[in-house]
Amino acid sequence: MARFKIPLFKLNFDKKEEIAIIKTIRSRWISSGPKVGELEKKFAKLIGTKYSLATSNCTASLHLAMLTAGIKEGDEVLCPSLTFVATVNAIRYVGAIPVFCDVTSEDDLTISPEDIERKITKKTKAIIIMHYAGFSCEMSKIMKISRKYKLKVIEDACHAPLSEYKGKKLGTFGVASCYSFFSNKNISTGEGGMYSTNSSKNYTLAKLLRSHGMTTASFERSNKSSIMYEVLETGYNYRMDDIRASIALVQIAKLRKDILQREKIRKLYIKYLKDIKGISIPFSNFKGKSSNYIFPILADNRDEIRNLLVKKGIQTSIHYQPVHRFKIYRKYYRKLLLTDIVTGKLLTLPMYSSLKEEEIKFIAKCLSQIVK
Ligand SMILES: Cc1ncc(COP(=O)(O)O)c(C=O)c1O
Repeated sequence: MARFKIPLFKLNFDKKEEIAIIKTIRSRWISSGPKVGELEKKFAKLIGTKYSLATSNCTASLHLAMLTAGIKEGDEVLCPSLTFVATVNAIRYVGAIPVFCDVTSEDDLTISPEDIERKITKKTKAIIIMHYAGFSCEMSKIMKISRKYKLKVIEDACHAPLSEYKGKKLGTFGVASCYSFFSNKNISTGEGGMYSTNSSKNYTLAKLLRSHGMTTASFERSNKSSIMYEVLETGYNYRMDDIRASIALVQIAKLRKDILQREKIRKLYIKYLKDIKGISIPFSNFKGKSSNYIFPILADNRDEIRNLLVKKGIQTSIHYQPVHRFKIYRKYYRKLLLTDIVTGKLLTLPMYSSLKEEEIKFIAKCLSQIVK
């Protein structure tokens, strides 16, 4: 386990998660049940949407978002290339065509509203956006475009629980928003996700699709004597279980404090890295609230730096390889000048709430020696 002196991420777990899991196991109900219900209510309140639906992972949430938005075969969906491939796979699940858009700038790595508007055609039905690293997309411009061309907005908010744009929480702008509780996310449950919406119609459909299109769940049936169910849709099994939901409940109770700590860590990184030549820190002009899910930098000789940091015991990552360059997506190729430039330089440094100032200083020292 301890391969790296400073890993990319450390779980914010303690006895509370362990106790929550044991309690759920001892309750003798471990599949989707009361803990999932409790989590959904608390999550909806936390984010400020009317409805939240816990899922097996965010990829499932994204699929539900495409289905409930009515996206069909042959429709075009505008999307970033600088994202995790799951954002784009969800477009393909419903047979729609991904139309890749560039990032805004080397500082703002979120989808460019100008490029979105340039790429709208008669076939465009939706825009899926991703709030990179927890920093908001340019929501005023994107929502204005969506109203002008009558396009649905879906938010991949995997990186952005509790992030805000001008005081409004991310994940509350579009017709649906999707979150991941994968083990390295701000909320970690191993696997898990959430689908959130303000539309009761979309919520009802998503709930049906989440569990085989069935009108009642096993937990509901277990509380009443032998109730039959109807099947109304060709659904899926995208359910979360109560063990993971009980972990998520502990994690969301820690979330605000965890994010405050991450804000301090970002400030420390900026303090120690700002004078190192050959390195730049994106989102330097960002004024809103970010979950700081990851800490990305741009470095001229990225691959060399990465190899040398590994030798010093510092784990890094690349978020992300651009989706339009993957073999399966090359047929949707678009020239994305800035995305191609930044993805050659992107490097993610360690980020987690227990990261210490001494460790950040060490990372900065190593970087300054390497870059020189
Ligand atoms: C931006 C983004 N979208 C989608 C996903 C998929 O989430 P999950 O692994 O929960 O399916 C991730 C997870 O890494 C992500 O970072």
